[in-house]
Amino acid sequence: MLKGKPFVKWAGGKRQIIDKLKEYIPEEYDTYYEPFIGGGALFFELSPKKAVINDSNVELINVYKVLCNEDKFNKMIRVLNSHETNHSEEYYYELRNKDRSKNSFRRLADYTRAARTIYLNKACFNGLYRVNSKGEFNVPFGKKTKVNTYEGSNLNLISYYLTNNQIKILNEDFESSVSTAKKGDFIYFDPPYDSDTSTFNSYTEEGFGKEEQVRLARVFKELSDRGCYVMLSNHNTKLINELYGEFNIHVIEAKRNINANGKKRGKVEEVIITNYENKKGFED
Ligand SMILES: C[S@@+](CC[C@H](N)C(=O)[O-])C[C@H]1O[C@@H](n2cnc3c(N)ncnc32)[C@H](O)[C@@H]1O
Repeated sequence: MLKGKPFVKWAGGKRQIIDKLKEYIPEEYDTYYEPFIGGGALFFELSPKKAVINDSNVELINVYKVLCNEDKFNKMIRVLNSHETNHSEEYYYELRNKDRSKNSFRRLADYTRAARTIYLNKACFNGLYRVNSKGEFNVPFGKKTKVNTYEGSNLNLISYYLTNNQIKILNEDFESSVSTAKKGDFIYFDPPYDSDTSTFNSYTEEGFGKEEQVRLARVFKELSDRGCYVMLSNHNTKLINELYGEFNIHVIEAKRNINANGKKRGKVEEVIITNYENKKGFED
């Protein structure tokens, strides 16, 4: 089966460590849950038949939902074609600033908003998603002369996969999105990174601070007690080691792609935490 890949570049995207992540997933599971889906690198790689995916980012989830509806998808493709044709710095800023007027932005069709999100992601600086305190997308133009918004057949592949499998798409907080998870399901948490110092952390207006990491650790434990397979990735920080001390913590090296300061790109330690012993799920 041909697989799709993330249709947006997303901070914290897991494409570079996908092979390492795959080593730690359970061999068998029932429903796949990914409460912080972002670009969905692991999700698309595994392409499970039954899944619940979630993110608190409204515009991102709107794209997933449009991809799930053939009619809206076709309309979105037409808008994307026109964005590619009209692409320029001036056009970019005109489209970017559409969210400055909240009322008219809300009235835009969902497929128009979805095309805007994909285009801005491809045309903005470094594929960042960043909003200011008013929730306005504020990444500058990326200075590309040409953008390729649907990357050959990728959007078609994704749309076909999402429409032909049992994929539930949610736009809520991570905790409520896993309320239906039961014994034998597999949950992969890829939350915004914790840091020992302060780094880029502004996916949504709310941010994701230490209290959120603590709340997530509690949810991880509850799911573990319920008999779910639970895996989480994060930076190798003091807090994360304290919070998940009772579970299996595997340290890996990963290349960091997005950093406010380009010079700091390089290798950072990440951890993959599981509630099961061996690399491929629970021992018999
Ligand atoms: C590290 S990114 C996920 C990266 C993704 N795994 C990938 O490969 O692209 C974290 C995601 O968590 C989302 N997020 C932040 N706070 C959240 C919350 N309270 N509930 C659900 N999602 C949240 C952000 O919008 C962001 O997309």
